[in-house]
Amino acid sequence: MRFARNSAFGSRPGSRALQRMVLILALVLLGPLSCFAQTDLTGFWVLKIPRGDGTYRESFFDLKQSGATVTGKIVGFREQEISEGTFKDGRLHFVTTFRRRDQEVRISYEGTVEGEKINMSMSFPGREPTTGVAERSTPEAALPPKPLPLPALHDVPDNGLARTPPMGWNSWNLFNVRIDDATVRGIADAMVSSGMKDAGYIYVNIDDTWEGNRDAQGNMTTNTKFPDMKALADYVHSKGLKIGIYSSPGPTTCQSYEGSFGHEEQDAKAFAAWGIDYLKYDWCGAGRIYKDEDMQALYQKMGDILLKVGRPIVYSLCQYGRVDVWKWGTKAGGNLWRTTGDIQDRWESMERIGFRQLDIASYGGPGHWNDPDMLEIGNGGMTADEYRTHMSLWALLAAPLLAGNDIRKMTEETKSILMNREVIAIDQDPAGKPVKRISQEGTKEVLARPLHDNSIAVGLFNRGDQPAEISVKWEMDDLGGKKLRVRDLWKHQDVEASGDQYSATVPKHGVVLLKVSVAK
Ligand code: GLA
Repeated sequence: MRFARNSAFGSRPGSRALQRMVLILALVLLGPLSCFAQTDLTGFWVLKIPRGDGTYRESFFDLKQSGATVTGKIVGFREQEISEGTFKDGRLHFVTTFRRRDQEVRISYEGTVEGEKINMSMSFPGREPTTGVAERSTPEAALPPKPLPLPALHDVPDNGLARTPPMGWNSWNLFNVRIDDATVRGIADAMVSSGMKDAGYIYVNIDDTWEGNRDAQGNMTTNTKFPDMKALADYVHSKGLKIGIYSSPGPTTCQSYEGSFGHEEQDAKAFAAWGIDYLKYDWCGAGRIYKDEDMQALYQKMGDILLKVGRPIVYSLCQYGRVDVWKWGTKAGGNLWRTTGDIQDRWESMERIGFRQLDIASYGGPGHWNDPDMLEIGNGGMTADEYRTHMSLWALLAAPLLAGNDIRKMTEETKSILMNREVIAIDQDPAGKPVKRISQEGTKEVLARPLHDNSIAVGLFNRGDQPAEISVKWEMDDLGGKKLRVRDLWKHQDVEASGDQYSATVPKHGVVLLKVSVAK
C-alpha cells in the first residue's frame, strides 16, 4: 500500500517516518477488525460429526460474537451455555460445561474457519477428540418436531408373553456404542456354547446405535454396523435364540440416533418383518417434545401397534421409573418397565438400585415385571461376592435377567454366578410372587419370597463393609412348626438349621441365599 504523493502527508521532509507510524497504527487497529468483518460467527450452526457408521451426530450452536469474544449455547437435546469462547486469527475456541454425577464435565471445541464452514474438533475429557464440519443453520432446524396428538388412555390387552421375567443378554452395559453385526453373531454363538441358552438366557438384545437414517418413504434403515438386520435375526433364530431391538418414542434415541416418533407403525412393521422378538422402547428424545404425564399414552400407542404386527414381541418400557410406571406399565401393554436410571458396574450403584425395589415389588407378576436394569455380572467392577449379591437380589426381585457382559469370554466364576440354576429357578418361579423385607438391622437385611411350591427363598444380605453374622427366624405362616429342609443355593448343598432359625456369617457385601421348604 502506498500513500498518494499529494495526500495530507505530502512530501515534506521528515514526513516518511510519520507516514510509517500511521500505517502501522492503522494496521494494528484495523487489522483484526477487518478480519472479523470477513466472518462474523454470530448465528446458528450445525456441527455434523461422522460416527463412522454412515450416520452423523448433529449438534446445534447458537453463537454470538463480539470482537474476539464468543458466547452462546449448544441447543438441542441438552442446552449447554458456552462458558468461555474466543475467535482469534480465524481460530474458534469454546468450552461448554455440564454436571454429571456431581462432577463438572468440560467439553472443548476447537475450530478453523474457512469461509462459511468451520472445521471443528470436540473433546470430552478422557476420550479421543472427534472431528466434523459446522455449517450455517437456522433456529428452526434445531427445534424438535411438534408433538403429535396423544391417544385416549385405555388398557392394552395382555400379549401373553413373559410369563416369567425375560432372560437373555443386552449389548449396552459392556459394548455401549461399539456393537455390530459380527459381535451379535459371536454373542449368539457363545450363548449356546457357554451353556447360557440351556440355563434359560434366550433373548439377544441389540441396544442403541444400530439405527440408520430413514429412506425417502420414511422406512427405517440400519447403519453400516448392521448391514442386514433380517439376516442377523435369521442367524440368531437358527441358534434357537430370540432377538431384541431398541427404539424411542421420540425423534431421537439417547445416543441421538433416529427414533420412532411419527413412524411408530412403520417401524413396528419393519421390526416384525426382520423377525424381531423384543423391543426396548427408550424415552430419551421424547422428553424434548412431551411431558412426563404423556408417557402412558405414548407407550400405549406402541403397545397397541405391537399387538397388530403379526409377531409376538416382548415390550420393554424404558423411562427410568418416572411417574410411577409400575402403576400403569401393564395398562400400556408393557411386559417389563425400568424402575430406575442406568445401572453401573459398581457396588454403590447396584446396591442402591437393588434394595430400593422392595416397596414396589408387589406391582410385578406374570407378564409384567419391574426392571431394575440389566446385569453387570462379569464386567469387572465388583467382587465375586458383590456379583453374587447382584444375582441373588435380582432373582428375589423377580427381575429380568439380561446379562450385560461379554459372553464370549467368561471366567468360570462368572459362569458359576450367571448360570447358577438354583438361583435362576428363584427368579423364574412361575408364581411370580413379590419379595418382602422381613428384617433389617443396620446393614444386615433379610428378604424372603414365597415360591409356587410353598417353599420360600430367603436372602441374608450383608450390605456392610465387614463380615457379619446374620440370623433369620422362620415365622412365616406356611413354615412355622414344621420340619424344614434348608438349602444353600450358592453352596449347592443342604445345611443344618437348628429349630426355627438359621444363622450364617455373611462376607462383606455378600449374601447367603436359601431355599426353605417343608421336609418330605
Ligand atoms: C438409556 C438407557 C440405557 C441404554 C442407553 C442407550 O440410557 O437407560 O439402558 O439403552 O439409553 O443409549
